[in-house]
Amino acid sequence: MKTADLAQVLAQVKSSLRDLQQQGIEGFNCRPEFLRIVGRWTETPSCLAGDAAGQKAEGESLKEIKDDLGNCFRCPLHKGRSKIVFGEGSPKARLVFVGEGPGYEEDRSGRPFVGPAGQLLDKIIAAMKLDRSEVYICNIVKCRPPGNRNPAEDEIEACLPFLKRQIASIAPEVICTLGSVAAKTLLGTQSPISILRGRFHQWMGIKLMPTFHPAYLLRNPERKREVWEDVKKIMAFLRIPL
Ligand code: URA
Repeated sequence: MKTADLAQVLAQVKSSLRDLQQQGIEGFNCRPEFLRIVGRWTETPSCLAGDAAGQKAEGESLKEIKDDLGNCFRCPLHKGRSKIVFGEGSPKARLVFVGEGPGYEEDRSGRPFVGPAGQLLDKIIAAMKLDRSEVYICNIVKCRPPGNRNPAEDEIEACLPFLKRQIASIAPEVICTLGSVAAKTLLGTQSPISILRGRFHQWMGIKLMPTFHPAYLLRNPERKREVWEDVKKIMAFLRIPL
């Protein structure tokens, strides 16, 4: 293993241990959920280069990944979808937003975050002095879960390799996960979003800031202040003046 890879794995171990500590867990145990977390610690940047569904190496374009995804039938979500929501934005974005999965409007249009939550995300992006075209917006799963339920584990497993390849292709400086599903999936933790948000984690050597989902903010506008604190940290890291 290369020194840089080892450093990334160690950073992820440190971040995961801190999550466990924040949940009040001081020792290590062998319960299946902990072993699953530890299993993910062994992921190295080679996962970015290719895995179960993604055999391609880094350096591939978003178009190549989209072509490879094709008219996907890899999980049951294909049955109820109108359109695959691949993701959109700059292929050279410094910042990638990762949501949970398409909703009704996204499923109809094939574009991420275009419904009411998307309109709030647009405002958040504008408050960061960025334009939607400068960032990249995508989701953990690319097809709408029926009734907007959370995506199931097998659906996430089928879709995640493509998201990893998209992020490897873009190579952003920061990933901002929106909501609990995106943060827990990428960080391989069960810690609640209220514990995860507000500080940078490492994901495959990339800074990752979890924050609340815009749909949650629509229902709980008093939490917008915390999201503003989170995005200010991203702005500072990207050296965008307030
Ligand atoms: N919610 C999400 O998580 N993603 C979308 O694309 C739209 C709403």
